[in-house]
Amino acid sequence: MPRDLTPWRGKRDTSVPPKKPDVDAAPAPQDATLPEPAQPAPAPAENAPALTDVGPKRKHSGLTETIAVSGARTKVTPPWADLLKPPTTPPASKEALLNDPLPAELPFENLLKDKLLLAAPRLGIPGRACPALGGIVLVKKIGQGGMGAVYLGFHPRLQTQVAIKVLPFLIAERRPEMIARFEREARLAALVRSPHLVQVMDLNQEEGLHYLVMEFVAGCSAENYLDLVRENGAKGLAEKDTLRIAIAATKGLAAAHAAGIVHRDVKPPNILLPQEAGVTPRFDEAKLADLGLARGAPSGAAEAGTPKLTNSIDTMGTPGLMAPEQAFDIKKAGPAADVFSMAATLYMLLTGWAPFTGETNLQILTATAQKPHIPIRDQRADLKPGTVEVIERGLQKEPSARYPDGAALLEALQKLG
Ligand SMILES: Nc1ncnc2c1ncn2[C@@H]1O[C@H](COP(=O)(O)OP(=O)(O)OP(=O)(O)O)[C@@H](O)[C@H]1O
Ligand SMILES: [Mg+2]
Repeated sequence: MPRDLTPWRGKRDTSVPPKKPDVDAAPAPQDATLPEPAQPAPAPAENAPALTDVGPKRKHSGLTETIAVSGARTKVTPPWADLLKPPTTPPASKEALLNDPLPAELPFENLLKDKLLLAAPRLGIPGRACPALGGIVLVKKIGQGGMGAVYLGFHPRLQTQVAIKVLPFLIAERRPEMIARFEREARLAALVRSPHLVQVMDLNQEEGLHYLVMEFVAGCSAENYLDLVRENGAKGLAEKDTLRIAIAATKGLAAAHAAGIVHRDVKPPNILLPQEAGVTPRFDEAKLADLGLARGAPSGAAEAGTPKLTNSIDTMGTPGLMAPEQAFDIKKAGPAADVFSMAATLYMLLTGWAPFTGETNLQILTATAQKPHIPIRDQRADLKPGTVEVIERGLQKEPSARYPDGAALLEALQKLG
């Protein structure tokens, strides 16, 4: 049995069962693609949303995130909220002026009161002080997940944008094993190069804040894009768009598997889609994020002496999308478990729902292990038989009945043409 059956799953609620397809209802559009811009592409409007604002209906107020899905609003607080502590040294005493320019067009947000960043030194130019880590200026909060929050950062020396994932202040004190795992796995991830994997650039800590510097993907996540097409009345993404995303993300997965790394948390928020403001994302350039960052339960021996302080941030994958063997024994999660999660991700992008749902995580995991999912054909009658076949094979409960790894899944997807 997994140690933690109630991980905080982030934004999209996979716990609400899907409605049975309503045959009497007027057929909802099955798929949607955002309209292509008129040719030639117009310059982004003055008030066009910032790149990172595309899609999600999410508002951050301090640590609380309000998520609006189909009009229903949910407030969520991250599980690491109790791992925040103000620094002992007031940050004001750690202010420094930058020698390099800070472009005014960056989408600055006032992060000085961001509770996660209270310990961070401040760096800036006169009139604009920003929290900074490792000399990287933090510009804007992009999102938050089960382990910490992600910010848009600006590297003043190189004059480039980066993404920084910051872990809460007390994590090193309370969960040293998680830091060790974060470091070990980030090192592994840094070794693999692929245009379809979000590149890890640095891993460090400053003033008690552990952080990971990554390539910044300007655009949205596949989850954000799914939210957007559903808000426009479609059930899920167009088949051709889903397949383009699938092929690109699976190229990243295949590269990881070739390097001996199992992702363990393939899911729509971990697939990033480069996108210019206001136009359709570049699906063929999709990138898989958080490679090697998925938290696996350590072996029993390693765990034995570790005090269990909070179980909510020790996520092992995402219920509803993770393979049965991973749900009940993380050590059994091999490449075929990632194949399952990729197939489940495609299922979700096409239908709006994870293949396995329930009221609680235990129900979802039990359903994953024991019950059949609603065949995707019953939810999307418009799909080509080949697409249905690939997804259904990927979702087989028995790992040996699936494609064995990312390379095999990629081959099957590419054959769909
Ligand atoms: N390198 C990046 N470039 C641009 N945006 C990113 C990057 N990494 C993450 N994001 C955005 O930040 C959001 C939060 O990411 P994070 O990994 O913290 O949480 P998550 O993937 O939603 O959940 P979990 O913590 O379970 O992995 C993502 O959904 C994505 O939209
Ligand atoms: Mg992530």
